[in-house]
Amino acid sequence: METIRGRLTAWYATALVLTLGVFGIVLYVAGRTTAYYQLDQRIQSTAELAAGILTESFRVGNPVVRDDATGRAQIVPELAATLEALPDHLAILHREGRVLFLSPASRALTLRQVEAFSRLVRGQGPREGAIRLPPDGPTIHYAVRLVAGAGPTLGGVVAGADVAATEEALRQLAVTIVFVILVGIIAAVLVGEWVARHALEPLDRIITEVREITDGRSLHRRLAVPRVKDEIGRLAETLNGMLARLERSFAALRRFTADASHELKTPLTVLRAGVERTLTNPKSAPESLPVLEETLAEINRMTELVEALLTLARADEGRAELHRETVDLRTIVEEARETGELLAEHAGVTIEVAIPDGPVLLEADPTRMRQLILNLVENAVKYTPAGGSVRVLLVSGNGRVRLSVSDTGIGIAPGDLPHVFDRFWRADTARTRTDQRAGTGLGLAISKWIAEAHGGTIDVQSRPGRGTVFTVSLPEPGPSSG
Ligand SMILES: Nc1ncnc2c1ncn2[C@@H]1O[C@H](COP(=O)(O)OP(=O)(O)O)[C@@H](O)[C@H]1O
Ligand SMILES: [Mg+2]
Repeated sequence: METIRGRLTAWYATALVLTLGVFGIVLYVAGRTTAYYQLDQRIQSTAELAAGILTESFRVGNPVVRDDATGRAQIVPELAATLEALPDHLAILHREGRVLFLSPASRALTLRQVEAFSRLVRGQGPREGAIRLPPDGPTIHYAVRLVAGAGPTLGGVVAGADVAATEEALRQLAVTIVFVILVGIIAAVLVGEWVARHALEPLDRIITEVREITDGRSLHRRLAVPRVKDEIGRLAETLNGMLARLERSFAALRRFTADASHELKTPLTVLRAGVERTLTNPKSAPESLPVLEETLAEINRMTELVEALLTLARADEGRAELHRETVDLRTIVEEARETGELLAEHAGVTIEVAIPDGPVLLEADPTRMRQLILNLVENAVKYTPAGGSVRVLLVSGNGRVRLSVSDTGIGIAPGDLPHVFDRFWRADTARTRTDQRAGTGLGLAISKWIAEAHGGTIDVQSRPGRGTVFTVSLPEPGPSSG
């Protein structure tokens, strides 16, 4: 079972089935024992009563047995009338085995059955027990009493009762027990499921809430703590404590990155100004110029890196503000084309831009948008060998603006695709500094943040050696917001 709820319900139901099962069996066995005990008691008292009546009648001097018209010995009619009232089977036998009296129930038996029944008196078998009358039933419990004190002719009495009625009552008892158990199990499963669900509902809520805390930016969230301080309440509190600690350390980390990059900006500006001044100074020694140029390039690269770090740190802190205004994205794409063309020309790559005729209006931060598009165009040119081409396509429709930048470049391996938007991730870190594919590995991380900060998404598709397509999708302002 996948869930604790399911497991609890299963255990609960199993425990109940076992309990009810044992209970049912005990109940049935007890019922059966009692029923047969009562049956046997009744038979024995019938036998004793009959024997008692006969003995008593003889003792006071009344006749017990008399020959009837055909000369056969019979119990005298007065006594027979009394004996008729006794329930179930009853037979009174002559000392030599002849039947002197049969109760109404016994008279309904076949001759063979009567014979088997009455033989019990003279037989050597136990005086009490069960017998199945031939050829096929009924099964009766019987009790035999020999009667010595009722004259020389009287042998004994046998009383018996059909077990069918008892069996039928027991069968009904079993059916009832099984029915009650079934109903009990169904109720138990339903109730168990309900109880488990209610008990675990807060846990499900916690799971959902924790799942929503996806990254450092949602660490400010706290779980709703149930009022009852049970295990789940304590779990929520513990998790909240952990979140608070995480939030603090994340914040400290961001603070540090933001402060560090901020602190680096001023010295870098001073450095850049100094190097530039030396470069443009006609008195500078010409042989130092290449070194200075290289230094300036490194300073520029570092400034870029520091800017990127600061942007991301501020974004993490939620302090990177968007200065939104209505912009025509076509203008920004056109601007990016100009920069892109310079880069492309340099790299021997052709660049092609397709934009719609009508304006593509967005509520966006133009600086950020420019940065986003430039990042993608720069990458496309950078990772496309000479002779390749880059295509920028801007379309709008269905409430969304789509900007795609595709190239015919080196592509990205499928295993690398999930990482391209990670900070500092670069497909090949070894070539970072030296060749013209220099970079920080932060461009796409920033691009992703910009797209998402504008309520959009950024996706990538790529085939190694064939090329790459980055697609930015942004929501167009709906009629309500415009
Ligand atoms: N158009 C592209 N074609 C092939 N690989 C790309 C492309 N754009 C990005 N990448 C890969 O993704 C990595 C991260 O890109 P990015 O964040 O812009 O960093 P950078 O450009 O500074 O290396 C790059 O180093 C490169 O390996
Ligand atoms: Mg880049």
